[in-house]
Amino acid sequence: MKGVILAGGLGSRLRPLTKITNKHLLPIYNKPMIFYPIETLCHAGIEEIMIVTGGNSAGEFLRLLGNGHEFGLRDIYYTYQEGEGGIADALKLCEHFAEGQKVVVVLGDNIMEDDIGPYVRKFESQSTGARLLLKEVSDPGRFGCPQLEGDRIVWIDEKPEKPKSRYAVTGVYMYDNRVFEYCKALKPSARGELEITDVNNAYIECGDLHYDVLAGWWTDAGEFDSLLHANQLVAARQGAS
Ligand code: DAU
Repeated sequence: MKGVILAGGLGSRLRPLTKITNKHLLPIYNKPMIFYPIETLCHAGIEEIMIVTGGNSAGEFLRLLGNGHEFGLRDIYYTYQEGEGGIADALKLCEHFAEGQKVVVVLGDNIMEDDIGPYVRKFESQSTGARLLLKEVSDPGRFGCPQLEGDRIVWIDEKPEKPKSRYAVTGVYMYDNRVFEYCKALKPSARGELEITDVNNAYIECGDLHYDVLAGWWTDAGEFDSLLHANQLVAARQGAS
């Protein structure tokens, strides 16, 4: 299966840190942020990755990551998203790369403890549809938040004022090739973006969205507090004092 890392957008919520450089090149303890989603995909056995970058310092990704062999990748590809049209807008750029196959997508600012390999294997044996990874959090209103009925997700609200569960939809998305049709049919949301949550709701409407719950810690790193938290979690894992 092929992997996609979405590292586009402008990182506006981290200004001035992102005024001259790219959010995904900022350090998380002892490595640049982009290393973590790459390692997440590599550990799951993915050998070909497309990186969608954008904003400032896009050329630095090539200097930093080269041909990807250092990570054990067979091939690494790059493309560039203009502006910050949303996660689904960035994903649209990967249609040719996917070549009709399933894809595992990871957001460039998502850092997690778990090996996602077992979840990817489950998705491989799923004939169609999508698979998400959820995590229980203290602040679900900051994320895509699922409404659960029994063991099914019946809807996902993006950054709801009144969250309907204590879970966040993490930035690991597994999709069959229909995802590109759904992305192309989207209209911009109130914040002017093509929302990945709308894509996930399209899969719910077809009765073809499945999920697992992450066991270990998970965080994004797109705001000052979450960036600090990500650094602390990784430092603790590395045994820093
Ligand atoms: O982290 C998980 C959350 O990520 C989900 O729970 C939400 O449903 C999802 O919408 C997203 O929420 P955020 O508002 O936190 O996403 P953010 O705008 O911070 O973008 C996250 C990453 O997605 C970013 O590091 C790079 C990529 N991205 C984002 C945008 C807006 C792009 O590649 N292009 C973009 O235009």
